[in-house]
Amino acid sequence: MNQRTCLSVILAAGEGTRMKSALPKVLHQIAGLPMVAHVVKAAEAAGASGVALVIGHGADEMRKTAAKFAPEAETFVQEKRLGTAHAVIAARAAISKGYDDVLVMFGDTPLIDADTLTVARLRLAEGAAVVVIGFRPPNPTGYGRLIEKGGKLIAIREEKDCSEEERKIGFCNAGMMAVAGAHALKLLDAVGNKNAKGEYYLTDIVEIAGAQGLDVVATEASFENALGINNRAELAQAEAIWQQRRRHEAMLSGVTLIAPETVYFSHDTEIGADTIVEPNVWFGPGVMVASGAKIHAFSHIEGATIASNCDVGPFARLRPGADLRNKAKVGNFCEVKQAVIEEGAKVNHLTYIGDARVGAGANIGAGTITCNYDGYSKFFTDIGEGAFIGSNSSLVAPVTIGNGGYIASGSVITETVPDDALAFGRARQKTIPGKGKELRERFASAAAAKKKAAGADH
Ligand code: UD1
Ligand code: CA
Repeated sequence: MNQRTCLSVILAAGEGTRMKSALPKVLHQIAGLPMVAHVVKAAEAAGASGVALVIGHGADEMRKTAAKFAPEAETFVQEKRLGTAHAVIAARAAISKGYDDVLVMFGDTPLIDADTLTVARLRLAEGAAVVVIGFRPPNPTGYGRLIEKGGKLIAIREEKDCSEEERKIGFCNAGMMAVAGAHALKLLDAVGNKNAKGEYYLTDIVEIAGAQGLDVVATEASFENALGINNRAELAQAEAIWQQRRRHEAMLSGVTLIAPETVYFSHDTEIGADTIVEPNVWFGPGVMVASGAKIHAFSHIEGATIASNCDVGPFARLRPGADLRNKAKVGNFCEVKQAVIEEGAKVNHLTYIGDARVGAGANIGAGTITCNYDGYSKFFTDIGEGAFIGSNSSLVAPVTIGNGGYIASGSVITETVPDDALAFGRARQKTIPGKGKELRERFASAAAAKKKAAGADH
């Protein structure tokens, strides 16, 4: 089976009008990854060595996405949308390279899994010429029905072409098929368009193959895996299914999720065992969490690396380039962007650290801000090992604070602070005995005089 070569032809030329979107349907994302990229991943996991992406609507955007998420995919433009068989034929040049198996997939069926596809490929290896992936949706309206006779699949009838009897069939076409490469083009070329929609239906190859005495079979996928996305409600449904699976997988791999239904992962989130994630945490793309970390409630994390035993949140925001080394702490209402927080350093309260390094064991006081941007460019702040930044300090980049440097609270630091130096960058305090009381009395009598004057006016 592994010896058999496989081409995946992914149909994605349609517009997806029901999404009501300027973006082509299959570029809408699930877990931060375009639907069509999920489909490519499944095809590759099922052993497809070639990927042909059939595009039409929004071709330029589709090409850009393919280059990013599926650089190995070859794109083919279907100029006119004349039906699913016509769309597959758009990839003729790829198919005619002569693969053993051709997997036809839809770009809008993002939860399809490698197992379902592998089962279909196995049936080809056993000698079938066409394997249709069927499923039993709770409501079959709109789907093509699988017409079986004596345990054999004899036809797929689109709903519009079904008799009343056929419409009662619950076993439906999920849309995907595995076709023996040796027969694929011959079968596809025999498809006509005499049907209710006047389209070239891929589904017609079932009857055509049967008439040629070829073996045609159906396999069954779960409804969830075969879910097709047509509108944003279905998009959310697919997202929910994806998230539920990922949470389950995370928990089985040793991650504690206290309220799993409130934690959102991205397609590429990596998270180590013995990490505890509190409720309402969002992982955007590009996050790696090592083992033993604690992610407290309401943290929003993307593009960040979190090493072992770090403590993050509650209410922390880690943006791309945040790099927390072992045992670092980033606490409540702190934002970290493009900055390394070295081992054991603490950034605990109401702080912004951007374009910076915080040395090992340094302590960043509440309300500290790295002023990294002058409206045009970004500048770097380097904070040395063991430094102490007093609360409510502004570190105006570019600036360096040496190892063990000590910054007085409320400072505005604009110049280099050498190792172990103490820096004040604030006005000196002046205290005048008795002056507070005197002021209070003066203000009180002024207010009383004003009130009296106002009363006399009436
Ligand atoms: C298709 C199946 C139907 C099945 C259903 C499952 C056919 C004839 N019908 O119907 O049996 O139950 O999927 O969802 O195959 N596409 C192109 N170019 C075209 C036409 C379609 O690229 O000319 C693409 C679309 O972008 C989409 C996919 O093919 O990704 C399916 O096309 P769609 O028109 O949605 O097929 P259905 O009518 O839903
Ligand atoms: Ca459809």
